[in-house]
Amino acid sequence: MARILLGVTGGIAAYKACTLVRLLVRAGHDVYPILTAGAERFVSAETFFALARRAQSDDPYQHLEHADLLVVAPLTANTLARLAHGLADDLLTEAALAHDGPLLVAPAMNVRMWEHAATRANAETLRARGAVFVGPEDGELAEGEVGVGRMAEPEQIALAIEALLAGSGKERPLRGRRVLVSAGGTREPLDTVRFVGNRSSGRMGVALAEEARRRGAEVTLLAANLAVQAPAGVTVVETPTAADLEREALARADADVIVMTAAVADYRPARPEAEKRPKGAAPWTVRLEPTSDVLAALGAGRRPNQVLVGFAADGAESGLDRARQKRSAKSADIFVFNDVSRSDIGFDSLENEVVLLSNGGERHVPKAAKSEIAATVLDEVERILSEQ
Ligand code: CTP
Repeated sequence: MARILLGVTGGIAAYKACTLVRLLVRAGHDVYPILTAGAERFVSAETFFALARRAQSDDPYQHLEHADLLVVAPLTANTLARLAHGLADDLLTEAALAHDGPLLVAPAMNVRMWEHAATRANAETLRARGAVFVGPEDGELAEGEVGVGRMAEPEQIALAIEALLAGSGKERPLRGRRVLVSAGGTREPLDTVRFVGNRSSGRMGVALAEEARRRGAEVTLLAANLAVQAPAGVTVVETPTAADLEREALARADADVIVMTAAVADYRPARPEAEKRPKGAAPWTVRLEPTSDVLAALGAGRRPNQVLVGFAADGAESGLDRARQKRSAKSADIFVFNDVSRSDIGFDSLENEVVLLSNGGERHVPKAAKSEIAATVLDEVERILSEQ
């Protein structure tokens, strides 16, 4: 059984949300309805509370209590925009901002509104934050027009809710665990404007941080020059250089799980110039000095019952073998090897294909979205935690 906040917004499909409440209650869930003023033009809040078998509460903040899932069905173009932009101008949008679990939405609107560039961008924003969309469907719309905009049927929404709860949402298996994830690539200054850097976008680490948060962990993300947005609900600490990353990681070395996804520079300019170096005809020779290996330091000082994860980006030939050696040299539990000689995966790509090395053996994980790879890595982390 899950505690579900059900937002209902103002559209003719609001009446179908009554069936959704009935289905969810029948499946044993605890449903807390929140109707917007617009929704109440179509259906009354009393109907929803009666179907949810609960009294309308006097407590104005009940909607801010923890819920396993927030569902908004139907979702109008207006509330979609409000959610995308983080407005908090009524109970539903306040609840949405205070909610740190999964979000599932079932949009319903006129086809031209759904296809408008503003709505597309808002939907994309929510999707990028991990919201699950069910529909809208193609069919006859309230005004007699035909096109994409109908709310998905309640049965279909209920199925999507069960799938989401069965996945990572409800169980929150990492609840109470502190997870530290490093992501991105460090930049080592040559002077005040130039740096030695690498191509890591931070997508893999961000996907891991997001998945760990979804599983209920308290997540800190050490962010080294991310090219993508950090996920909501995690604590972000900016660590632009290897030295910053080392300092901030070691300060949190007692985390339950540490995932070092960041491409930490192995070398940095030994003497960065204090001002921008003017252009000159003579060559510029830079001496690079080694940085400290953060993961190796964490491994050397590891506390019992901690899970350490490293990433190895290497060529296919000898890379896997080197990843095996790195796992033992850095005392990590898991090493994730990915072949950076391929251009379709890894750096800058939305997908990855990896080999997972752990005490449970070696497993090839076929090409998949980085969010799926993140889920597989965290499944393995959970397996090791459960053995302790
Ligand atoms: N790492 C680290 N500190 C460094 C360098 C790397 O913590 N100064 C971590 C990375 O975050 C990653 C793993 O160690 O989890 C990668 O190991 P590394 O030996 O650097 O491997 P590659 O960079 O893949 O390969 P190479 O040895 O060729 O640099």
